[in-house]
Amino acid sequence: MSYSIEVSNVSKKFRNYIDKQNTLKDKVLRFGKQTVKEDWILEEINLMINEGQTVGLVGRNGSGKSTLLKLMTKILYPDVGSIKINGRVSSLLELGAGFHPEFTGIENIYMNASILGLSKKEIDAKLNEIIAFSELHEYIHQPVRIYSSGMYMRLAFSVAISVDPDILLIDEVLAVGDSAFQNKCLEKIKELKGKGKTIVVVTHDNSMVEKICDRAVWINNGKVRADGSPRDIIMQYMAFLSEEENKRLIEDQKSESNEIPLNESPELWHIAKPIESSNHSRVGNKKIEILNVWFSDSQEQIKRNFNTGEQMIINIQYKINEKASSVVFGVGFFTSDNTYCYGTNTYIDRSIPSESLPNEGHIRFNISKLTLLPGVYKLDVAVHHENGEPYDYLTSVYSFQVSSDINDVGIFRLDHTWELKG
Ligand SMILES: Nc1ncnc2c1ncn2[C@@H]1O[C@H](COP(=O)(O)OP(=O)(O)OP(=O)(O)O)[C@@H](O)[C@H]1O
Ligand SMILES: [Mg+2]
Repeated sequence: MSYSIEVSNVSKKFRNYIDKQNTLKDKVLRFGKQTVKEDWILEEINLMINEGQTVGLVGRNGSGKSTLLKLMTKILYPDVGSIKINGRVSSLLELGAGFHPEFTGIENIYMNASILGLSKKEIDAKLNEIIAFSELHEYIHQPVRIYSSGMYMRLAFSVAISVDPDILLIDEVLAVGDSAFQNKCLEKIKELKGKGKTIVVVTHDNSMVEKICDRAVWINNGKVRADGSPRDIIMQYMAFLSEEENKRLIEDQKSESNEIPLNESPELWHIAKPIESSNHSRVGNKKIEILNVWFSDSQEQIKRNFNTGEQMIINIQYKINEKASSVVFGVGFFTSDNTYCYGTNTYIDRSIPSESLPNEGHIRFNISKLTLLPGVYKLDVAVHHENGEPYDYLTSVYSFQVSSDINDVGIFRLDHTWELKG
């Protein structure tokens, strides 16, 4: 099989001019002097894309996906390395790129299609087909400056596919189309794929990658982080995103002020790390004190990442400082956007009577099969009097992450089966 796109050891940098002249005096004295900062946006990218492959490029905002696509289109050139292209390329990059705002849709079709390599005669012959695919109707005679984003995209997509490319490069833009047109584009992409064309799509729509691509490449910080089957790569990428979200959650809550003086053992600190949170996140008279909380699995391994269906144990270490009665321990689970998922306590469950509590102890909340779906969750842990009086009540202090390789959606997995009757 021959290659369509060969990216060899490509690095790309951008120069940014930083204007440090703040005052008029600065401006006059330093006139013409600018500080230049060079950033390597892509580093040592190696990618061999074979003829007939449909490749999805995924990665966070600013990771370098669009830059890579522009290099493949030869709008940009690498500073190091080389890119070889085998076949006619057609690309849909940023919205409106390549359109002249004052020209009508039809005039832009002629301009763009000729840039993509069609002669006037060829365009004449395809014009009706292009207009029909775009479904722009009377708008086709209007200047494109009055177009909506979706209308721009319709025009750009219709032109891009009209040139019968060997290689189609698409950056994101499909997302601005309405769902009817998006489906039409996807059908067209599938058709091109069926004809053995090579397609590279940049998208934040992971399900689209799984639907239409036979390979996914995850770009992170200007480097290829992973390359493989769409399913594998999307899973790795989603796990990474949710870990990043988790870190953000912890940082956010940290910056909210007041430290929570938890008496933690250092080896647990990085695992079930208490989040320093607002004043309200720890209340109580400390007659009974929560010393530590951590998560573990069936092997007693301490961790914060669990799979749906796995056993999860919440460990709560406490100390009784002053005689207290009617002691209730409770837990509450919340999504990162504060949807209350589940809560219970030893009073509701009629478990662990007060009289049985030693002065210092360790309580385990054992979930034999975690039914939460992938995401980052926050946990409340509390010890209080039966009447609600808090001894030590920690709100949103702990977080953990759930992953799964099944694509069901929601917060909980419902235990279920499908049956065909009859
Ligand atoms: N012309 C330019 N001059 C300077 N810096 C640029 C230029 N184009 C892109 N960059 C920088 O390069 C980095 C990568 O940008 P790029 O557009 O490739 O990201 P991306 O992965 O497509 O992100 P997104 O998902 O947001 O579209 C960013 O830090 C961006 O600021
Ligand atoms: Mg981009």
